[in-house]
Amino acid sequence: MKNITELLNIKYPIIQGAMANVSTYELVSAVSNAGGLGVIASSGNDANWVREQIRKTKELTDKPFGVNVLMMSPHAKDIARVVIEEKVPVVTTGAGNPGPYIKDWKEAGIIVIPVIPSSALARRMERAGADAVIAEGMEAGGHIGKMTTMTLVPQVCERVNIPVIAAGGIASSKGILAAFALGAKGVQSGTLFLATKECPIHENYKKMVVKAKDTDTVITGSDQAPVRIIRNRMAVEYLRLVNEGASFEELEKITLGSLHKAVKEGNMDEGSFMAGQISGLIKEVKPVSELIEELFKELKKDMKELKILWKLQ
Ligand SMILES: Cc1cc2nc3c(=O)[nH]c(=O)nc-3n(C[C@H](O)[C@H](O)[C@H](O)COP(=O)(O)O)c2cc1C
Repeated sequence: MKNITELLNIKYPIIQGAMANVSTYELVSAVSNAGGLGVIASSGNDANWVREQIRKTKELTDKPFGVNVLMMSPHAKDIARVVIEEKVPVVTTGAGNPGPYIKDWKEAGIIVIPVIPSSALARRMERAGADAVIAEGMEAGGHIGKMTTMTLVPQVCERVNIPVIAAGGIASSKGILAAFALGAKGVQSGTLFLATKECPIHENYKKMVVKAKDTDTVITGSDQAPVRIIRNRMAVEYLRLVNEGASFEELEKITLGSLHKAVKEGNMDEGSFMAGQISGLIKEVKPVSELIEELFKELKKDMKELKILWKLQ
């Protein structure tokens, strides 16, 4: 089985997870230039917007990068074509079944990596021709599944013969080491990259992540589409309304536009600040290259310490 750095032609086995309204060309090119894989989040945007992001990324880096396609997007079909036309090296997918597109992407030489919340879906993706899967646990920021990274990753590794990339709660060298110990061949982080200089979000968003403690995230959204965000006035109000059995319309009143309020306006009371449980470990905002270099330098140290420990016993 190929390792992730060979498969993706990158220096370090770390993917910057797609982040809706966040991972645009500025962050993506910075991550790819630093030796990881940057991924553009297409979220609900149309194909022209995605094409522009791809071209801007290419102006800033000659390293591999990816595009995340949300299968539920009304623009998914057009974006699926644009990634082929623009010769994007890697596609990650979320929110639905990418099965119908995989054959065309593979024929175009694209590496296809679906994000999956269960081992059954991982198997299905392997059979459909995926090159690897990203197993994402519910510690993660943003839209989440039901399993934890600790339980999902080893079970997916047991059931597929393609490389598994672990996501959800990884923001340190020890987290990466743990992912490898569970059988993963690489990691995907989202929350960690929110606290970087190049991340094009409001400074207040970065402050929220840096200030958050381990228990400061809550799950909002519906049962079918839960979303992990940092607790603030909006989140508390949302959960209160849910408890009181509020209607969809009532809930929508406070959620509509809340992502924009977080990302662009930095409105700490009314914004929806998507971030994961690992926020508590993130203590400062760093340039992307410094962050990645440090992570893997630390990883070497951690591995040495582990070896010493092992010898002592
Ligand atoms: C702000 C934010 C937005 C996200 N948007 C997307 C998205 O559009 N598509 C997707 O597949 N995953 C999305 N994710 C998930 C990330 O790609 C990644 O898998 C996740 O953040 C990993 O867990 P971590 O936050 O604990 O590092 C998002 C995560 C965050 C924090």
